[in-house]
Amino acid sequence: MKTRITELFGIEYPIIQGAMQWLSKPKLAAAVSNAGGLGTINMTTYETPEAFQEDIRLLKSLTDKPFSVNLSLLPDTKPDGPIKGFLQAIVDEKVRIVETAGSSPKPFMDLLKSNGCVVMHKIPDSRFAHTAEEVGCDAVCIVGYEGGGHPGMSGVGSMVQWPLTLERCNIPVVGAGGVCDGRTMYAALAMGLDGVMVGSRFMMAEECEIGPHLRQTVIDAKETDTVLTQMSIRNALRSLKTQEALNIIEFEKTNPTFDELYPLIKGTVTRAAFESDDPQAAQIAMGQVIGRIHDVKPAAQIVKDMMDEFMALHERVTKML
Ligand SMILES: Cc1cc2nc3c(=O)[nH]c(=O)nc-3n(C[C@H](O)[C@H](O)[C@H](O)COP(=O)(O)O)c2cc1C
Repeated sequence: MKTRITELFGIEYPIIQGAMQWLSKPKLAAAVSNAGGLGTINMTTYETPEAFQEDIRLLKSLTDKPFSVNLSLLPDTKPDGPIKGFLQAIVDEKVRIVETAGSSPKPFMDLLKSNGCVVMHKIPDSRFAHTAEEVGCDAVCIVGYEGGGHPGMSGVGSMVQWPLTLERCNIPVVGAGGVCDGRTMYAALAMGLDGVMVGSRFMMAEECEIGPHLRQTVIDAKETDTVLTQMSIRNALRSLKTQEALNIIEFEKTNPTFDELYPLIKGTVTRAAFESDDPQAAQIAMGQVIGRIHDVKPAAQIVKDMMDEFMALHERVTKML
């Protein structure tokens, strides 16, 4: 298949595995890349640059196909701050594809581009597409409001955000938020997008190391079983409707300060819930698309099923003409 994204990244299919803190590790990323998509690992999963570098090396040993590394940035993340060692690991390991998210990648562009990186910036609102292009990003990924993780504060879903993003920039556009199969991928590409990003569906890949309890919770969940936490700090997180996510929302109604809220929302609480396989004990990023995900299968099968369904739909549409 040939799109601006397959050409840019050198991949067979324009299917990008969404970065998932604590979960998108080399085993999953390599399985997606080996299947012809683009696997991703997250910088924020690692406590030290050394551990991050070690897993980049592990990923390279598991696949000779392209992969990407996600840098989740905060507005005050500075290239010479604590992130410096992680950036050095990217440079030392000659990582070619970097996905930035969370905040403008502008302060990092010189370093990344001078080291030959291709940069895709993930945005939760089409309003930011123009800026991504202006600061020199090679592609942009737009997440609709239904997406797992941080879908922004606009409340606008993929069907409106995706085409608006196409209208607001000239670089390749990847659509995220609600994509889990050939149907949703076909819709994205038919609309004019260059690729799709898939988060929640790949969380239910065999290679994603989550416990049986969380797996069953996701299998049983409906499309209405997500909630938005962190609205009070304008950093919405779409999470599985767990007991702790509901507790956080209740606590937010009391107008806590950030310092009061932080102990409940910090990433290590979610890591502990993954480790103990107790999904109710934390907020767990998850998209509304879980209402359409009811099985666990190898990442390669997810990619193959998406492509088979995509082709069948193409035949159907072609017959209509
Ligand atoms: C469990 C989980 C953890 C995530 N963690 C991150 C993260 O650390 N950084 C990031 O940029 N996006 C993160 N995301 C968002 C995904 O990369 C992707 O944008 C999103 O899942 C797409 O929407 P979908 O869930 O409808 O496929 C996470 C998503 C999930 C489901």
